[in-house]
Amino acid sequence: MKRPIAALAGVGSYAPKRIMRNAEFAALGLDTNDEWIVQRTGIRERHIAEPDETNRTMSAAAARMAMERAGVVAGDLDLIVLGTASPDRLLPSTAVDLQAEIGASRAAAFDVMAACSSWLYGLIVAEGLMASGNAETALVVGSEKLTSIVDWQDRSTCVLFGDGAGAAVLKRSEGGKGILSTFMRSDGNLAELLYRPAGGAAHPFSQQVLDDRSYFVKMEGRETFKYAVRSMSEAADHALARAGLTGQDLDLMIPHQANIRIIEATARHAEVPMDKVYVNVDRYGNTSSASIGLALEEAIAAGRVKEGSTVMLVAFGAGYTWASLIVRF
Ligand code: UT7
Repeated sequence: MKRPIAALAGVGSYAPKRIMRNAEFAALGLDTNDEWIVQRTGIRERHIAEPDETNRTMSAAAARMAMERAGVVAGDLDLIVLGTASPDRLLPSTAVDLQAEIGASRAAAFDVMAACSSWLYGLIVAEGLMASGNAETALVVGSEKLTSIVDWQDRSTCVLFGDGAGAAVLKRSEGGKGILSTFMRSDGNLAELLYRPAGGAAHPFSQQVLDDRSYFVKMEGRETFKYAVRSMSEAADHALARAGLTGQDLDLMIPHQANIRIIEATARHAEVPMDKVYVNVDRYGNTSSASIGLALEEAIAAGRVKEGSTVMLVAFGAGYTWASLIVRF
């Protein structure tokens, strides 16, 4: 396969208006404070969806922005890939809801589930479907309403997450622009370090599931932290090697925004100085599959990604899953 095949022709994002600052957790009766959260994570605030804001509405808002910027209309799309760890419903996919919402009647639509790596997995899947002739114009979205699946009584997780959506339209590459290299991997032996124990087919909803709160996200924070640094570093190495580049060749790196300390460790490993790393975890928290798209949209709007820029995206999430992608704009 001769690259580049797929170019990111337009990027969009959406974040709910309501902002929750760290200090507000104390009012919920949680034994936590701004200083702990900022020191351990870098997070200062996050966006919280209102009850009537769903993945359907948030993903559509991000998608419309990406489509407008790419100069395409919904009828041009022949593929929609949506990543989410917090689907609006368990059946059918959130991607088909997005398809209906924007009126993309010619598209094939489905979800990918790779937790925080879903958006990069989705871009890689879409590129592959373009390479095989199954798609010409693809929409790839990451959308999360994580605040509906975190346990608001568990200070070790609920302070970390936020809501939002990020989207990109992929078109056929022209003039050397587009995806230069990719890498993806997972390790299912580590699934129970970050997961929702119940609510699916193995442990369906029951009174006991409600009582023991086992339908909410559970995470072993310290283990996840270690694997995140190791895996994102590995992913960065592979994407750089496959593109024939080094960290010094990058104009910008956009890592998954989970924790500033993970971001800094990954950047150090890849030998990318922090002034070439995009960080917005302070304002959004961890938005899982939405995080990299949200950050990329901001980076473009801020002029930090221009025509000709070489950008590396790196993700890590539940599964565990990890992935990376280098793209020239
Ligand atoms: O999105 C993909 C994957 N997610 C991640 O990448 C997240 C990875 N993990 C992390 O970012 C960090 O491990 C956390 C931010 C989750 C936790 O930071 P940590 O430095 O690893 O803290 P810890 O879990 O080791 O906890 C240290 C202490 C504990 O108290 P003791 O046992 O030392 O007395 C916790 O109970 O901090 C306590 N703690 C808190 N204290 C105040 C945990 N959460 C809080 C909190 N406020 N919100």
